[in-house]
Amino acid sequence: MPALLIVCNWKMYFFYKQAHTWLSTHQSDLVQLTKQTNKHVILCPSYDALGEIAKLLDAKTIALGAQDCAAHINGPYTGQVSAQSLKELGCSYVLIGHSETRGAHKGTIEASVLKATCALEQNLTPIVCIGESEEKYKAGTSLKFIEEQVRPILELSKRYSGQQFIIAYEPIWSIGTSIVPKNAYIESVFTYIISRAKKIGLQRAPLLLYGGSVDEVSAPTLKQVVHLGGFLIGKASTDFQKLKKIVQLV
Ligand code: PGA
Repeated sequence: MPALLIVCNWKMYFFYKQAHTWLSTHQSDLVQLTKQTNKHVILCPSYDALGEIAKLLDAKTIALGAQDCAAHINGPYTGQVSAQSLKELGCSYVLIGHSETRGAHKGTIEASVLKATCALEQNLTPIVCIGESEEKYKAGTSLKFIEEQVRPILELSKRYSGQQFIIAYEPIWSIGTSIVPKNAYIESVFTYIISRAKKIGLQRAPLLLYGGSVDEVSAPTLKQVVHLGGFLIGKASTDFQKLKKIVQLV
């Protein structure tokens, strides 16, 4: 069985110095923990902290990811960071289209595809986030919405079939709310994505993560989800004791 991926999305919880302090305090325990439990941990600090974290990180054991990247190679894009810079800084992964960045910048799935393309061109593994709103969930139109989001992503993954590609399913209504879907519901979404992948002739479906209120309480149940490749964890990943429990329990 491949190692479960534990992707820590630190969002903007830490200020610049706090991220550094977190890692210097906990790195040796984290390294030991990942080795003992055979988990693959990826830390995604905010842009400002990436350079310092990269210098400090035991990159043989823990990987570095960014929380977003630009949809362009370079040029007049104020406030954006290119995939190439992320690569040069030491990142191996990049989150794309997280609902919190999509909301703020009116990101569309087309923008996610452009960003993921820039990432793939730099040999970064994109972790493309998808997930329906509470409104769509309640209206029973989740799968229809997911189909719209997933189709262009799977097409892209087919074009870059030699490279690792990750999809994180994060229902927006579950992010930061302590409301977690039933396993059967997540499985229905995963099965649907896998069937769409087969339909377009993808040899291997992207690795599938679940994200949204994963913590030491919800993780033991969530780990039973069929086809689960790992977790995308926000708030709980900033608390080392919680993260440790999750890594041990899953
Ligand atoms: P949460 O966030 O774990 O705090 O719900 C998950 C995410 O937004 O990636």
